[in-house]
Amino acid sequence: MLEIENKISKVAFSTDKFLNSYLREKSFKPTLLSAIKYGLFSGGKKFRSFVIKNTAKIFNLNENEIIKVGAAVECMHSYSLIHDDLPSMDNDDIRRGKPSAHKVFGESTAILAGNSLLTLSFEILGSDILRLKKNIKSDLIFSLAESAGYKGIAGGQYLDLAYERKKVGKNKIIDMQNKKTGKLMGFCCEAAAIIANKNKDRKFLRDIGVDIGLLFQITDDLLDIYGDKGKTGKPTKQDLKKGKATLIREIGVNKTIEFAYALSDKIIRILKKKYGTKANDLIGSVEFLLTRDH
Ligand code: IPE
Ligand code: IPE
Ligand code: MG
Ligand code: MG
Ligand code: MG
Repeated sequence: MLEIENKISKVAFSTDKFLNSYLREKSFKPTLLSAIKYGLFSGGKKFRSFVIKNTAKIFNLNENEIIKVGAAVECMHSYSLIHDDLPSMDNDDIRRGKPSAHKVFGESTAILAGNSLLTLSFEILGSDILRLKKNIKSDLIFSLAESAGYKGIAGGQYLDLAYERKKVGKNKIIDMQNKKTGKLMGFCCEAAAIIANKNKDRKFLRDIGVDIGLLFQITDDLLDIYGDKGKTGKPTKQDLKKGKATLIREIGVNKTIEFAYALSDKIIRILKKKYGTKANDLIGSVEFLLTRDH
């Protein structure tokens, strides 16, 4: 395992440990709780928690609280994946090398598990378990809500489906991907500035995070074509079949790879300029995206 993958797994372990103990307190209906846990613990990378942790290093923040904010984001992310796989959306039967949630629990339970995970993310940010000041929590909740709603995941997912089998052009594709994947990563980076009370850094970090998310989505689209399903945990060559609007379809593979490298260079350059060596770990997570195979 690469050193960076080792670091990501450590964050995943701490995030899962927190979520496990948080959910142990709950007395949900058994099957719904199983579906929620299936969505959370079925083997995702927890890359978003890793990004939060690495952004938090810029401000030397307390790791315990950061893991809890990462856990809230992972709830949001897992919700988005359960719904993304539904027959009315991407209609995918395999996720993380296992049957998708709706295949195991049925559609209605999968929808409700998704809804529960969506609200669980706000529940965690609002709970006393997260030991942060009330105004900081409310800023986190507001910003996460914006990243998830019509300006973020939901809006982007809507456009992703609306653009299927349509030629919409490069700018609309980037806007759609910024929304469906970029905004949540934007929250991950902005969250560190919110917690550190560095209001002046919030927009800068949010914008950097959106770019990291766009890069993440572009590499996901490349893995859909060149990846190994044993490693990605999902069937490959689905996007073309579904007529998904991707940069690869719009400008071709070579130009898409060039675009990804230029985007990564830009992110790294401006992070170095603003934070110097304090941004090294965040830069490491950006570099991981260009080489990832899962
Ligand atoms: C997949 O996200 C969905 C996209 C936004 C492209 P991840 O690749 O982070 O999925 P897991 O959580 O590791 O399975
Ligand atoms: C999903 O994008 C983005 C989300 C916000 C869930 P994809 O549809 O490409 O993700 P995968 O490939 O199914 O993981
Ligand atoms: Mg999708
Ligand atoms: Mg999908
Ligand atoms: Mg994909």
